[in-house]
Amino acid sequence: MLDELSQIEQNALIALKEIAQETELEQWHVTFLGRNSPLMRVFDQLGSLPKEERPAIGRKANEVKNTLEKAFSQTQERLHQIAIEQALQSEVSDISLPGRKVARGRLHPLTQTLRQISAIFAEMGFQVYRSRDVETDEYNFQLLNFPPHHPAREMQDSFYLDLPHSPDNPILLRTHTSPGQIRAMREFAALNPADPPPVRIILPGMCARYEQITARSEIQFQQVEGLAVGKSITFSDLKGTLTDFARRMFGGSVQSRFRASHFPFTEPSAEMDIECFVCGGVGCAVCKRSGWLEILGCGMVHPVVLQNGGYDPQVYSGFAFGMGIERIAMLRYGIEDIRYFYSNDIRFLEQFV
Ligand code: PHE
Repeated sequence: MLDELSQIEQNALIALKEIAQETELEQWHVTFLGRNSPLMRVFDQLGSLPKEERPAIGRKANEVKNTLEKAFSQTQERLHQIAIEQALQSEVSDISLPGRKVARGRLHPLTQTLRQISAIFAEMGFQVYRSRDVETDEYNFQLLNFPPHHPAREMQDSFYLDLPHSPDNPILLRTHTSPGQIRAMREFAALNPADPPPVRIILPGMCARYEQITARSEIQFQQVEGLAVGKSITFSDLKGTLTDFARRMFGGSVQSRFRASHFPFTEPSAEMDIECFVCGGVGCAVCKRSGWLEILGCGMVHPVVLQNGGYDPQVYSGFAFGMGIERIAMLRYGIEDIRYFYSNDIRFLEQFV
C-alpha cells in the first residue's frame, strides 16, 4: 500500500508537469485529488486495514495529499501568470509611444477680456450689476433722453420683437447696455427714495444692432457700461477713473485723450482714445493714420437721466461710460476682424490661453 501511494504521487507529479493550460489543470485535479481518485480510495479503505498498518499508511496518504495540493496551487499560479503575459503580448500597444494630448477647454477671448475689465473696476470699488438683454423702447431710448425721431430708433438700427406690446413702447434687443443705468438707479433709489445711496457699478452684457456685418461691426456684441452717481462727482472723477483704467488695461505708460462727442444721455459727452500701440502714435493702418485708437464713449450723466432714475439732479451728479468688449479685445490681442469672435473656429479660439 505504501508503494502504491508513492506510485500515485509520482504519476500525479509527472502528469502535472505536462500541463500547459488552466483547463487541463482542472481535469488533473479531478483525476488525482477528486472523490474517485486512487488517493481518495486509499482513504476510503483505511478503515478496513489491519490496525497496525493504519497509522503508517494514513500518515503517508496525508503526506501525498498535501504534496499534490501544494503542487496543484503552484502550477495554478504559474499558469495564471503565463496567461497574463500572453494577453499583454497579444495586445498591440507600444508603451514607448508618447501619450495623446488631452484637448483642454479654455475661456473665450471675450470672457477673458471681460474678466480683466471687471477685475480692474472691482479694485476701484465698482460692483457688477446685471441688467436684461431684452428691453422696452422706453428703457432703451425714451428714459435715456433720446428724442422721438432719433435715427437710432429706426427699424434699420434695432431688432424689434414681434410681441404684443403697446405700439409706442415696443420690445427690442437692447442696442447698448445704457438702459441698465436706469434700472440700476431705480433699484438703488427705491432703497431710500428720500436720500438715495451712491451708485458705483459696471454693467456687462450682450447687445444687438441691425447693421451690416463687416470686419469692424457685428449685429451682436458685448458692452460694459459703467455708472457712478453721488453727491459731488465731477468730470475730473470720470477722467481720472478712465485714465487709470486704460493704464491698467493697456500698460502703465499708455497715453490717452478725451475728445468732445455727443450722446443724448450724457452732457457733456466725450470719447476716449488711447495712443496707437502699433505705431506709437506716428500713424499707421490700424489707427487710420491718426495715431489714436478710440476705446469708449463717456460723459456726465444727463440731468434728465438722473431724474428718470430717481436721483435729484440738483443734489446728485454722476458719470457714465460704455465700451465694446470686442473692440478692447481686438486692440489687446491684435485681432483684425470682429467676425472671428462669433464664428466658433477652434483654430482661432485655441490661441487664447
Ligand atoms: N451707450 C453708448 C454706446 O453704445 C456708450 C456710452 C455709454 C456713452 C455711457 C456714454 C455713456 O455707444
